[in-house]
Amino acid sequence: MNSESNCPVSRRGLLQAGAGLLLATALPSIPAHSASSSNDYKVAVAAGRARLTGPDRPATDVWTYNGTVPGSLVRLRQGEPARLVVENRLDQETTVHWHGIRLPNAMDGVPGLTQPPIRPGESFIYEFTPPDAGTFWYHPHANSLEQLGRGLAGAVIVEEREPVAVDRDLVWVLSDWRLTEDGGIASGFGNRMEAGMSGRVGNTVTLNGRVSETEAFRTGERIRLRLVNASLARIMALRFDGHRPVVVAIDGQPCDPHEPEGRRIFLGPAMRVDLVLDMQGAPGRTYEVVDDFYDGLSYRLTQLAYDARPPIREHPLDAQLALLRNPLLEPDLASAERHRLTLQGGMMSAMMGRGDMQGGMMGGGGMMGMGHGAVWAINGQSMTGDGHAGMEPALAFKRGRSVVLELRNETTWWHPMHFHGHSLRVLSRNGRPVPHRQWQDTVLMAPKDVVGAAFVADNPGDWMLHCHVMDHQMSGMMTVLRVA
Ligand code: C2O
Ligand code: CU
Repeated sequence: MNSESNCPVSRRGLLQAGAGLLLATALPSIPAHSASSSNDYKVAVAAGRARLTGPDRPATDVWTYNGTVPGSLVRLRQGEPARLVVENRLDQETTVHWHGIRLPNAMDGVPGLTQPPIRPGESFIYEFTPPDAGTFWYHPHANSLEQLGRGLAGAVIVEEREPVAVDRDLVWVLSDWRLTEDGGIASGFGNRMEAGMSGRVGNTVTLNGRVSETEAFRTGERIRLRLVNASLARIMALRFDGHRPVVVAIDGQPCDPHEPEGRRIFLGPAMRVDLVLDMQGAPGRTYEVVDDFYDGLSYRLTQLAYDARPPIREHPLDAQLALLRNPLLEPDLASAERHRLTLQGGMMSAMMGRGDMQGGMMGGGGMMGMGHGAVWAINGQSMTGDGHAGMEPALAFKRGRSVVLELRNETTWWHPMHFHGHSLRVLSRNGRPVPHRQWQDTVLMAPKDVVGAAFVADNPGDWMLHCHVMDHQMSGMMTVLRVA
């Protein structure tokens, strides 16, 4: 199997030792879609076709950024201004949200709240200077469930100023699709029963836009592997058979390098995890990468396939693994304001039990539902759809304040909760401290979880906060946090 599917994302990070050899033999050239100047991009949003399941299988009608799924890899440089011209060639409105990047509110891509939607035939210019290096992604925030479900997603790499010592820097954009027999995308977006349960989980998972049999490696390599879960609803728990991945960043933010608990890497929708993998497998052998998140539904994501060449080096590198931290302000826990955000609703909840499933519309009953068909709520409020003007914020903070949030999942379902505009220091889960000094913009909440998280409200504006299971967002698990 060729190695083109391993998008090489940085050459600056290549080690001197052995790099020339590796470059000549293993690395495809810089992908054609990378722009000439790495902070200046054109992104055309348009219909296209993709062979998701294999070269001789039927092609799928998809929606694309620059003609491919996933969309063009966007590579920016930390601290340097970026300009991204998005041109809408779909026949419906769209926007682009640069997920996880701490940018000015007007560039956040939420229709109604931060910008008017981009109408068909029109363009919008996103301009911002990414403060943090790391792994991010971009996707629509208009008709999100269908637009993401039809393929609109791409990775954003913000390069470190100082390169990291690895042989190759790879990104795996993982996407979940619900395909029909003949390769089409199944209709039925926004199915109400699914919305009240786990969301639209599909039947086909692609790695960089295709179902992957193998990914090519060489014994002795050190890999930085950037995982992006671009699924609508599928949660993943990845195991790398025969390997010991080290987590070095979560949601783009460096953490203390550590081996994940039980050697499983949890990736909720919209989450990113950067791994360092020392490829210590035997030449010529293959090793499985398995996703076993859902009981009884585990599947092989791909196989790590070693070529027959001798090891690139005798012993694993002993270069350090820790990435340089980004310029995030440490919240002052002693003086912080404290608030609670409670997640409510879903199938088999009191909220659903009030007849909402039958009625199809939120009644009064203490709910201040904005839209139709809410099945979820945050602090008793249901904001539905993709974004609105005039939404009363659930919480408002004075700029510069430290804030501690208690996130309470009162539902019996999982929710990856995404905060726009900020990264949160995750402090505790169910009363136990969370180690490794980790920051996240998307916090995966198991049923009944209680998570403590803190941040400095330093980015002014009205910011979305929602579940990234798209059906959950659309049906009420969304609100606004105001920093002024
Ligand atoms: Cu990635 Cu509001 O979302
Ligand atoms: Cu959810």
